[in-house]
Amino acid sequence: MFIDSHAHLEFDEYAADFPQVLERAKSAQVEAILNIGTSVEHSKKTVALASQYPHIFAAIGIHPHDGKDTPDHYLDILKELARKPKVVAIGEIGLDYFYKHSTPDIQKQRFEEQVCLAKELNLPISIHCREAFQNIIDILNRSQYFKGVFHCFTGSLAEAKKALDMGFYISISGIVTFKKSTVLQEVVKELPLEKMLIETDAPFLAPEPNRGKRNEPAFVVQTAKKIAELKHIPLEEVAKVTTQNTKKLFGLLSSYV
Ligand code: NI
Repeated sequence: MFIDSHAHLEFDEYAADFPQVLERAKSAQVEAILNIGTSVEHSKKTVALASQYPHIFAAIGIHPHDGKDTPDHYLDILKELARKPKVVAIGEIGLDYFYKHSTPDIQKQRFEEQVCLAKELNLPISIHCREAFQNIIDILNRSQYFKGVFHCFTGSLAEAKKALDMGFYISISGIVTFKKSTVLQEVVKELPLEKMLIETDAPFLAPEPNRGKRNEPAFVVQTAKKIAELKHIPLEEVAKVTTQNTKKLFGLLSSYV
C-alpha cells in the first residue's frame, strides 16, 4: 500500500475523469491521498473533497505564488477551515524565489504567519521551497516550529541533512525518476527511508515513463520503484515505511485508511 502525500486533485485537470483517476489509484494500491490547498478557494475545495471521499485528507494553506492575492483576513478563514474533519496539515506554504509570482517580502510574511498558525494549531506543515532554503530555515528557527515535510525536495544533500537534523521529513516526487536528477538520486541513496515520504504533486511532474503528461496519484508507485532501485531494497519496504512515515507525521486516522 502507498500514500500519495501531496496532490492537487481539485484542479480543473481532473474535471472530466475524476472517478477514473481514483479508480486507477485504488488499483495501484494507493490507499490514501493528501490533497493540498494553494489558496483560500483551493483550500475550501480541498476540504470539500476530503469530506466526500473517505481516503482523501486535506491540507490547507496559501502557496507562495498566491501570497499577493490573499484577503486580509485569510488567517481567520484558514483557522475556521482547520476545524473541519480530516484537515491534517497547513500547506502548501513556503518561499519560491525562482518564479517570484509574489515578492519575496510578501512571501516571507505569509510563510511566517502560516508557520505560526500551524504551531498554534499543532498541525504539521507542507513546505514548498525553491531557491530559498536559507530564508526558510531562518523563519522556521525564528518560529521555533519543526514539524512537517519539505515537499517535492530538490535541494542538495547538505540541505536534506539540515532539514532532517531540524526534525523534518523530506518528500520525494517523480523528479527522482528523471535521468538528470543525479543530485536528488544521491539524496535518496544517502538518507534514511524512515525520513522519507512519497508524493506526486499531481497534476504536475509526472514520473517516467509518463513524464510530460498529466500526473495522478497512481503514478506515485513509479517514484517508489525508483527509490527501491536506488536503495537496493524491495518495493514492499518502500511502500511500508513511507506509508508509516506519512501516517505518523499527519496522524491519518487508522479508521479511514
Ligand atoms: Ni504542490
